[in-house]
Amino acid sequence: MNETASSDDKTRRDFLLLSTITVGAVGAGLAAWPFVDVMNPAADTLALSTTEVDLAPIEVGQSITVVWQGRPVFIRYRTAAEIKEAEAVALSDLIDPQADKDRVQKPEWLIMVGICTHLGCIPLGQKANDPKGEFGGWFCPCHGSHYDTSGRIRKGPAPKNLVVPAYTFLTDTTIKIG
Ligand code: FES
Repeated sequence: MNETASSDDKTRRDFLLLSTITVGAVGAGLAAWPFVDVMNPAADTLALSTTEVDLAPIEVGQSITVVWQGRPVFIRYRTAAEIKEAEAVALSDLIDPQADKDRVQKPEWLIMVGICTHLGCIPLGQKANDPKGEFGGWFCPCHGSHYDTSGRIRKGPAPKNLVVPAYTFLTDTTIKIG
């Protein structure tokens, strides 16, 4: 139980640290994360309906978290193996059936709201090359929901896949969320 509470605390702390990054203050301990170049400061983001993100600093296998309308959005540059795994899953094996191709605009970029669809915790799995859960994607330690490499719920109490927000590619390496 302490372990769960500790993981939960850590998740919240990671999110708070990343929220801080969007207002331009890079805290200690974030060296492993790529620089998050969010053009709209967090204070403004809360009031704006869109957030622009520069994807160029993200390397294959890395993820970043940005804030959009006060919510964390996970952006993952998927590896070829992760894409292959996501595409190979039969819809009949899914709790909330949705093909991987219907969750991405470009297979390498998976973009989704990082809030568990059970009771709203922030799932783990955003560290580079360190996926969590039994399906190689994200794991929500609050009650044990496992998400796959497409962010689809595969096991646990969450009823739905992680939500894919509306977004547009402004250039090959810039997106506008919202
Ligand atoms: Fe994620 Fe309950 S909030 S499993």
